[in-house]
Amino acid sequence: MNPLFRIASVFAISALWSSPALATSTGITGQSGKDGTTCNTCHRGGAIPTVALEGPATLEPGATGQYTFIIQGGAAKTGGLNIAVDNAEASLQAGATGMKKLGTELTHSAAQPFTAGELRFSFTLVAPAKDVTLKLFAAGNSSNGDLGSDGDRAAATQLSVTVGKGTPVDVPGEEEEEEGEKDNGGGCAAAGSAPAWGLLLAGLALFRRRRS
Ligand code: HEC
Repeated sequence: MNPLFRIASVFAISALWSSPALATSTGITGQSGKDGTTCNTCHRGGAIPTVALEGPATLEPGATGQYTFIIQGGAAKTGGLNIAVDNAEASLQAGATGMKKLGTELTHSAAQPFTAGELRFSFTLVAPAKDVTLKLFAAGNSSNGDLGSDGDRAAATQLSVTVGKGTPVDVPGEEEEEEGEKDNGGGCAAAGSAPAWGLLLAGLALFRRRRS
């Protein structure tokens, strides 16, 4: 890693940690699980909620899919979310009230109240105009409404979406594998010739003994 970048990230991380007043109740990105981190870096102490992403697992290239993200259980007073997609040509649009787009990702615009033990957010995904397999990442926080980060807990989920025929299969990669198998075959044949040599030598020895 570039040392400058490393220093910059240390600063960025310490800036996050040293500002407890950071207004994540009005939305946060980079915490969907796509980059390995979720809301639980900061939110602790609550029961783990159940989260689900519902919507089409296949889309035509360029088509728009309707999705719903559901949080159930946990502290279940208020909650929020972060949704990201791992394809730069795909685009996410906030559907529900209380949701907004921040950069390329979706998040809550304010902590949202649970109704009847659950919190639902609807959104749309516009697929890239080509065959590709992409992944939606979503993290949902179930919070206790104390306007702090304690007593809350998040869970994350993913949904794989096949656009058109999905990511084209890498044909050169397949050929390499076949070559590998051929190599293996050659290896076996070489080993197989050892007993043949052994037989020949044994035969020679027998022949010599007969002659003497
Ligand atoms: C860098 C630390 C940090 C991360 C990461 C973080 N939060 Fe927060 N969050 C806080 C803090 C601090 C508060 C309290 C201050 C405030 O309201 O912004 C808070 C408050 C909240 C609240 C209100 C909680 C309550 O009990 O009233 C919600 C909802 C919330 N965050 C959602 C999220 C979601 C959803 C994520 C992940 C996608 C997330 N937060 C990630 C630090 C964080």
